[in-house]
Amino acid sequence: MSGHVVTEIAGDVLTLRFNRPDKKNAILSAMYADAATALKAAETDNNVRVVVITGSGDSFSAGNDLKDFMENPPADHNAPVFRFMFGLSSFPKPVIAAVNGIAVGIGTTVLLHCDFAYAVPTAKFQLPFVNLALVPEFASSLLLARHLGTRKATELLMLAETFDAETALSFGLINAVVPADQLEATVQAKAKALAAKPPAALRATKALLKADGNEVSARISLEAKIFSERLQSGELREAITAFFEKRAPDFSKF
Ligand code: COA
Repeated sequence: MSGHVVTEIAGDVLTLRFNRPDKKNAILSAMYADAATALKAAETDNNVRVVVITGSGDSFSAGNDLKDFMENPPADHNAPVFRFMFGLSSFPKPVIAAVNGIAVGIGTTVLLHCDFAYAVPTAKFQLPFVNLALVPEFASSLLLARHLGTRKATELLMLAETFDAETALSFGLINAVVPADQLEATVQAKAKALAAKPPAALRATKALLKADGNEVSARISLEAKIFSERLQSGELREAITAFFEKRAPDFSKF
């Protein structure tokens, strides 16, 4: 285990916490691998009825770790990020996101695959894929348009502006904005309420809500193909070099 994903089971609830606060919980491939393993085990563990995903410190997650991502780009659907995201999108039990701060890139995409999401008032969301010369991933091009309408999804994916928790609530991306000191208690109360319900009925309800799984999988594959082509681009190298050099990227030569 990388040590950057902490898991804890308490009262039928598995909490999976991204724990790399000095890097805003940017996710390394080893972290995806750990999270995928934990989810896989939770699928068949009768002691786990609900999963909570959250982050340490002041962030939910700043998305892919850009350095690790450049050095170890996901090669295929067996890459840790795919194992985690496929595991999450097909996870049969309820999953709640406790968004304790910044949720960027896959930090926001994850929410589209969770059944519930609660965020602190200071949470900030962004889908900056185009800024990095990338494309949306894990069916966000499908699910955002479906949830928010094409007009709003286009804005989020092409202008890629940061938005706050109240805006996320107005989009229906989260269930509620919760004061920071009440986030954990609120999420645990929802988790306990879900854990007390008949588990097979809950799973069947979730399966019905996600009956479009094939369409989602097909979109994930299409996005992944284009995403991996984009990984080879000079535009991407410029975007990521600029991030670490703490300067604005210059796309004028492309
Ligand atoms: N990958 C690697 N390192 C990251 C990171 C990422 N996605 N996000 C943040 N970090 C690192 C920073 O490099 C910095 O490291 P340092 O202290 O060694 O310089 C540290 O985390 C703190 O980040 P910083 O940028 O100083 O914090 P901030 O509060 O000013 O801004 C963010 C936070 C998340 C808005 C900003 O870090 C950011 O835009 N990160 C990139 C997000 C991104 O593009 N994700 C990938 C999507 S595919």
